[in-house]
Amino acid sequence: MKTQYYTATSLDGFIATEDHSLEWLFPLGDIADTSYSAFIRDVGALAMGSSTYEWMLRHVVKPGTEVPGAWPYEQPVWVFSSRVLPPIPGADIRFVRGDVRPVHEAMVRAANGQNVWVVGGGDLAGQFVDAGLLDELLVQVGSVTLGAGQPLLPRRIVSPPLTLTGVRQVGTGFAELTYTVPKAPRT
Ligand SMILES: NC(=O)c1ccc[n+]([C@@H]2O[C@H](COP(=O)([O-])OP(=O)(O)OC[C@H]3O[C@@H](n4cnc5c(N)ncnc54)[C@H](OP(=O)(O)O)[C@@H]3O)[C@@H](O)[C@H]2O)c1
Repeated sequence: MKTQYYTATSLDGFIATEDHSLEWLFPLGDIADTSYSAFIRDVGALAMGSSTYEWMLRHVVKPGTEVPGAWPYEQPVWVFSSRVLPPIPGADIRFVRGDVRPVHEAMVRAANGQNVWVVGGGDLAGQFVDAGLLDELLVQVGSVTLGAGQPLLPRRIVSPPLTLTGVRQVGTGFAELTYTVPKAPRT
């Protein structure tokens, strides 16, 4: 069982634009060519911040529209927010706030031997790093730069550094990189 931060990023380290657009991402490649289907098969629980959840509401679920979309996850999802957010009928979503450690314990129990996916954003992934709970970082580095936006991982991880354990090219649009996150105290 691993706790993994799996995300796409621009080459200059942004996972969304300043106004939370992902329009730059989708033309870069076909998700079917990436590691996603193998990755998601082993995921037993997900965590995301409120901006990511609200993006899913706006772009995928679209509640209140004529043809609302389906919530894409069968696994339980923990959404971090200090606000009261609208739930999605029929989706297994738990709203939480504060310390990631007790939430992670509950996620590990629910995942029952499968992996925990920290979907993002970057600061939430950083909170898992700070607590020593993140095992792996899996990034699909897109062949674009954004100049500004929502950061991939706004933390200083220098000594010890991450360990690069996998490199795979996906067409001309992505490099998939896998890193192990060191568990020793950071300096
Ligand atoms: N490129 C990709 O593959 C990819 C992957 C994931 C996400 N995204 C996108 O990237 C963007 C990420 O947005 P973001 O950087 O703002 O990150 P986010 O994690 O989605 O949302 C951040 C917000 O979550 C809440 N939050 C975080 N930690 C919390 C805690 N411990 N307790 C309570 N609330 C907490 C806070 O808002 P409140 O308290 O105000 O609710 C915080 O401002 C989104 O647009 C998303 O769609 C892209």
